[in-house]
Amino acid sequence: MAIQKVGVVGCGLMGSGIAQVTAQAGFATVVREVSPNALEKGLASIHKFLQAGIDRGKVPPYELDKVKKHLTGTVKLEDLADCDLVVEAAPENLALKKELFGALEGIVKGGAIFASNTSSLSITEMSNFCRRPERFLGLHFFNPVPLMKLVEVVRTVRTHPAALADANAWCMAIGKTVVNCGDSTGFVVNRLLVPYMVDAIRVFEQGLAKRDDIDNAMKLGCGYPMGPLFLTDYVGLDTTYSICEIMFDEFKEPRFAAPPLLKRMVLAGLHGRKSGRGFYDWSTNPPS
Ligand code: 3HC
Repeated sequence: MAIQKVGVVGCGLMGSGIAQVTAQAGFATVVREVSPNALEKGLASIHKFLQAGIDRGKVPPYELDKVKKHLTGTVKLEDLADCDLVVEAAPENLALKKELFGALEGIVKGGAIFASNTSSLSITEMSNFCRRPERFLGLHFFNPVPLMKLVEVVRTVRTHPAALADANAWCMAIGKTVVNCGDSTGFVVNRLLVPYMVDAIRVFEQGLAKRDDIDNAMKLGCGYPMGPLFLTDYVGLDTTYSICEIMFDEFKEPRFAAPPLLKRMVLAGLHGRKSGRGFYDWSTNPPS
C-alpha cells in the first residue's frame, strides 16, 4: 500500500518538524494537538522555520503555500481516520501513548501503519497497545527535523516486511536517509550519543575543563557541529535525563546513568533551550 495521507499526533518540537517535512514533500498531512492553543503554537513554529529558510534563501517562497495547502491542523483524533500512516510524536510517557494508540485503533482504518517517534521507549511494548502489531514500527526523527537527514526505522519481531518497506519508501519520499534497526532501547543513535553527552556532563561536573573548552574540544578536535553541552541544551536536559533513566533501566550499565548534576539542573527547571537556560543562557543571541 502506498502511503498518501499522513497523520501526526503532537505538534511540539518533533511533531511540528515531522508535519512540516511531510507537507513539504506534497503528502496530505493532518497534525493533531491537544488544544487550540498548543496547535496554534505548533503551526506558528512551522511557519517561522519555513520563513527563516526563505529569508536565508534555502527554501523557495512557494514552499510556504505548499505547506499551507497540504497541512491541516486539528484537535480531534477522529480527523486522522483515513490516514495511511500515523506518526505519534507525543510526550515520552508510556501511559499517554497507551491511551493514544488505544483510541487511534478504534478510529484509523485497518490497513494503516502506526509509528512512534519515541527516542527510547520500547516499540514492541507500544505495539501491544493496538490490534495491529504487524503494522506497527518506530520512526525516530532527529532535531531539527527539517535539517537532519536521518530517520531510524525500527522493526519489532512482529513488524510485517511489507509495512517496513512502505515506511522506508515514505521516509525516502520525504527526503530522509533510512537506517533500519531492531527494537532495542535508544536504537543506534541514542545508544551511542547519550553516553557521550552524559560523559561530557561528568567531565564538566568533575571540573576537568570549562564548559566552552569541553564544547570547543569536540567541535574543533572532532569536527562535530555542536559541542556536547550545547547539544544537551538543544535536545533538552529533561529529555536527556528521561532517556538516561529509560536506558539505565534497560541495560543496568553505569554509562547510561544520569549524572547528579543533570538531575539537579532538571529539578531546578534548567531544561536548556526550551526553558531559556541550561548550560547556556538562551535569552541572548547567540546563546552565552
Ligand atoms: N530552513 C532551511 N534551511 C535552513 C534553515 C531553515 N530554517 N536554517 C538553517 N538552514 C540551513 C542553513 O542555511 C545551512 O545550510 P548550508 O549548510 O547549505 O549552508 C544549514 O541549514 C546549517 O545551518 P546553520 O549554518 O545556520 O547552522 P549550523 O551550521 O550550526 O547547523 C545544525 C545547524 C544543522 C542544527 C547543526 O548545528 C547540527 O547538525 N547540530 C547537531 C544537531 C544534532 O546532533 N541533532 C540530533 C540531536 S539528537 C536527537 O534529536 C535524538 C533525540 O532522540 C534526542
